[in-house]
Amino acid sequence: MPSLKSFVSAIALAYLANAKTIKITATSDNTFDPSTVKASDGDILEFVFEPKNHSVVAGDYRYPCSPLELGTGFFSGFFPTSSGEADKVFRVEVNGTDPIAFYSSQGNECASGMVGIVNPSANQTLADYKKRASALARSVTPGRKPYGGEIADNDSSDDDDGDDDDSKDGSSSGGKSGSSGDSSSDKDGKDSGSVSLSVSLGALGLAFLMAI
Ligand SMILES: *[C@@H]1O[C@H](CO)[C@@H](O)[C@H](O)[C@H]1NC(C)=O
Ligand SMILES: *[C@@H]1O[C@H](CO)[C@@H](O)[C@H](O)[C@H]1NC(C)=O
Ligand SMILES: *[C@@H]1O[C@H](CO)[C@@H](O)[C@H](O)[C@H]1NC(C)=O
Ligand SMILES: *[C@@H]1O[C@H](CO)[C@@H](O)[C@H](O)[C@H]1NC(C)=O
Repeated sequence: MPSLKSFVSAIALAYLANAKTIKITATSDNTFDPSTVKASDGDILEFVFEPKNHSVVAGDYRYPCSPLELGTGFFSGFFPTSSGEADKVFRVEVNGTDPIAFYSSQGNECASGMVGIVNPSANQTLADYKKRASALARSVTPGRKPYGGEIADNDSSDDDDGDDDDSKDGSSSGGKSGSSGDSSSDKDGKDSGSVSLSVSLGALGLAFLMAI
């Protein structure tokens, strides 16, 4: 009979083998690249931000450029970026395989095509969402604080100490990127995010050690 230890290890290994990080760039051309994404349950969507000042919001498919019901979905906050990529990214876990539409809530970016969809289906497609979005004048920003994901360092997908200088004082280096205007909300998002990240990394690391 397999021991609990090997059982837990097998699950951890299966998880490590299957969960992918999918990078999606909010580009300086006001598009998401890629705009159609195929993701599995447990995958991580990692949004990377180029200039100028984009956000990403999980949208209600029926009402383009509007967020999902409060308490569901995600919102990254705004990432004002002057060149290259912002040094922070927004990471969201995918739960299940249902379609998830998303958009930038900056100005008219959603209407002009800055939208995307995860796991489109026969009746929920990027083309249809985009077409209906293009008829709108504005989009909805769901409040001021990010939710539904975590703000992380651009290169922190392996662990916390991998980068040089901004992991220890993320809050003080937040001036360059992250949600603007309200630095305390940015801090809140970061704090809760890093706690859950280290808990899950810790659990995985433990199971991984047990597997060896
Ligand atoms: C980024 O966009 C948001 C929403 O329009 C705005 O409140 C904020 O001031 C902008 N930040 C910068 C630095 O332009
Ligand atoms: C973000 O990470 C990517 C891949 O590791 C790297 O090529 C890029 O230069 C990084 N950008 C910043 C602003 O740190
Ligand atoms: C899309 O099709 C599925 C399966 O037929 C159905 O359950 C769902 O309600 C449909 N969604 C929309 C937005 O029409
Ligand atoms: C998946 O669930 C997590 C934990 O509840 C949540 O933070 C995240 O926003 C969810 N993902 C999506 C795409 O809604």
